[in-house]
This record gives sequence, C-alpha cells and structure tokens, in this order.
Amino acid sequence: NKPKVVVIGSINMDMVTRSSRFPQKGETISGESFDQLPGGKGANQAVAAARLGAEVSMIGAVGDDHSGQALLKHLQDEQIDTSFVQILQGQTTGMAQITVSEEDNQIIIVPGANFALTKEHIDAAKDIIQSADIVVLQLEIPLEIVEHAAQIAAESAVKVILNPAPAPAERLNESLLQAVHYITPNETELAHMTEQSNVELGIEDLLKEKVDAVVVTLGSEGVRFKQKGDIVTGFVQGRDVEVIDTTGAGDTFNGALSYCLASGIELAEAIEFANDAAGLSVTKFGAQTGMPTLTEVRKF
Ligand code: RIB
Ligand code: NA
Repeated sequence: NKPKVVVIGSINMDMVTRSSRFPQKGETISGESFDQLPGGKGANQAVAAARLGAEVSMIGAVGDDHSGQALLKHLQDEQIDTSFVQILQGQTTGMAQITVSEEDNQIIIVPGANFALTKEHIDAAKDIIQSADIVVLQLEIPLEIVEHAAQIAAESAVKVILNPAPAPAERLNESLLQAVHYITPNETELAHMTEQSNVELGIEDLLKEKVDAVVVTLGSEGVRFKQKGDIVTGFVQGRDVEVIDTTGAGDTFNGALSYCLASGIELAEAIEFANDAAGLSVTKFGAQTGMPTLTEVRKF
C-alpha cells in the first residue's frame, strides 16, 4: 500500500531568468537564459512526494489559460491525482518571476488563481483530506483557506505538515498551530513567526503552542529539530554537493518528509532522508528537475 499524501497549495508557472548578477535600479542587463518551468510550493511538494512513490492528491487552482492547462497536464504526468485542482474562469494561473544569479535568487510571485481558492473548493475534497496519511500545507494560498483545510484534517485526526513559506506577515493563530503536527520553517520564517532571532529560542517558542514538532531547515547547514517533550531532538548536517539552483530545495525537503511520515517512518530518520533528497535537488536547474526518486536517494 502506497502512503497517501494530500497537498493543498499553490501551482505556479516559474519564469526563470539566469543572469550572472542582478540589475541595479533602473539598469538593463543581458541575461544568459530564460525558461518556463513548473513550480509553486504546493505543486513542487506534491511532485517531490510522488517521485518518491507516494500516492498524491493535489488540491489547488489554476486559471483558464495556457499555463494552467500545461501545469495540470504536468501534474498528471507525475502521477498526481488532480481531481480537485480547479480551473477557474477569468483567473490567471499563478506566476513566479525568478532570477537565478551566481550567488542567489530573487522571486516575485503573482498568485492569480491560487488566491481565488475558496473554502467550498476545500470542502469538496473533504473525503480525500480525511482519508490521507498526511496533509501538507504552505502559505501561498489565502491564510483562511490554510486554516480551514487544517481544521478539516484535524477533525479526523489526520496529521498536518505546515511549511510556513513564504514567511507569514504575522504570528500564526493558535487554532491553526493546534491543528498542525509538524511545522517546517527555514531560519527567516522562524524569525518572522516568533520574533526570535535565535533558532533554539524560536523552536521553544513554537513548541509552547500546540505543534508536536518543529523542524527548521538551515539550507546548506542542515536541519535542526525538536519534538515535544524532548522525544526527539537533534541536528542533521547538510550534504556537501555542487549547488546549481536552490529553488525548490525546501519543497523537496517537505515533499520527502511527507512521504516518509506517511509511510510511518519515525521523525529523525524522516528528516535525514528529506535532507538527502533536498541535497540532491539543488544539483539541477529548476525547482522540480532535480527532485529524486527513492532509488536515487538511497544511492546518495
Ligand atoms: O519554493 C519555490 C517556489 O516558490 C517556486 O517554484 C516558485 O513558484 C515559488 O512559489
Ligand atoms: Na533544483
């Protein structure tokens, strides 16, 4: 039996320009390449889990345009169930304008259809959510939809991973955090949510809420995590790899984590596996291109 993962979140077309550097204010420079690639934190996490062998259902929305059609077909090609991906009339598909430079990347998102997702759309998928082994959420759809989806999962005691990305503007409310088992911020997101610049203190802060485990991804530094009551606490070292593009590394981590937790693997081992999967993903250009299969992670 395949582990069942339900991802509720964004679907974007990534418009990726590669450039040796970023332009200054008012400056025009020549880039090296331009590609349109499937992205969006929700879709990325769904693809990461599906490649590893999870049975994945995606809940989200695209517009009635060319990108929407292409992204829907792409999800299906990745063996993801798209019965609950809405095609919304008069909306444009979510778009991410990404610049990848030698040092860093920059992203501007235009959410479009992702922000037109409604509670009714989520309710329509209630059965699928409540029969999942794990539900995965991010913050590229309206916060009230995230809260609603988490409540539906909590009603049937289905475990929820919340990847609080992009960083929320304010503290997440208590009832949302109560419905969440695993929260997976990076350092910046953790600082935003807790107003703590120290990772340890930020983790303690979130554990005071009702979340069961806090897993902080630290990029090339690895992952620091703690489960309630000190059941599991630890640090996993980042893998030493040749970095081509870090876009989607966090998504690969979350998708892989969901696959492991849905399979019943315990947290520390799941984190180690997800850290390996993310390490592999940054060696290829694009958010989804480098997302590994189960065999590839095992070999690594
Ligand atoms: O996490 C990476 C993703 O963030 C990109 O694929 C882009 O679509 C943005 O949503
Ligand atoms: Na990549």
